[in-house]
Amino acid sequence: MIETNMHLIVFLHVISAVIWVGGMIAIRFAVHYATPKIKEPKVKLEITLEILRRFFKIVSVFIMLLILTAVAMSLEFGLNKSELSSISHSKEAIYMIMTIIFIYIVKKRNQAQQFFNDGNMLECKKQLLPIAGYLIPINITLGVVAIYLGIVLRGF
Ligand code: HEM
Repeated sequence: MIETNMHLIVFLHVISAVIWVGGMIAIRFAVHYATPKIKEPKVKLEITLEILRRFFKIVSVFIMLLILTAVAMSLEFGLNKSELSSISHSKEAIYMIMTIIFIYIVKKRNQAQQFFNDGNMLECKKQLLPIAGYLIPINITLGVVAIYLGIVLRGF
């Protein structure tokens, strides 16, 4: 029974990471390079805002699931008292940074939406630029490192 529950917890942990990190890669490297094909600047901004809104709504559920399952595994495996504690703490730090960046990205998108609603397209674009420019790329990099550390934590 405990083993089945742990399978479920590891599964939920991995699928959450897949959706968060995979989703960011799809947005940054597929959607971001496809939207310039929309020639009308206002429509382009409107669609970009809508894609990000929907993605962030979905992903926020999996960000919470990721930490819940991480805590469950950490307790079950006694990670903090094991020789893997430094790796576990590194993952906790990465998770914290990724989540703070995520909250900042959501704030920037919401500000951009406000400028869009007020008809200020220039400021709207200015708010969106750092999201694709460096914020999402930083989180992709940190996410890939966290996935690698997850494999190390597995123990083989
Ligand atoms: C809050 C800190 C975290 C802790 C304490 C933690 C803990 C763990 C543990 C104990 C495992 C091994 C599970 C097992 O196979 O028995 C694991 C695996 C994994 N973690 Fe995390 N994790 C954390 C954050 C993250 C983050 C932020 C990501 C990615 C965004 C992530 C992605 C993964 C993945 C993909 C695996 C599976 C690796 C494999 O195939 O073995 N984890 N994690």
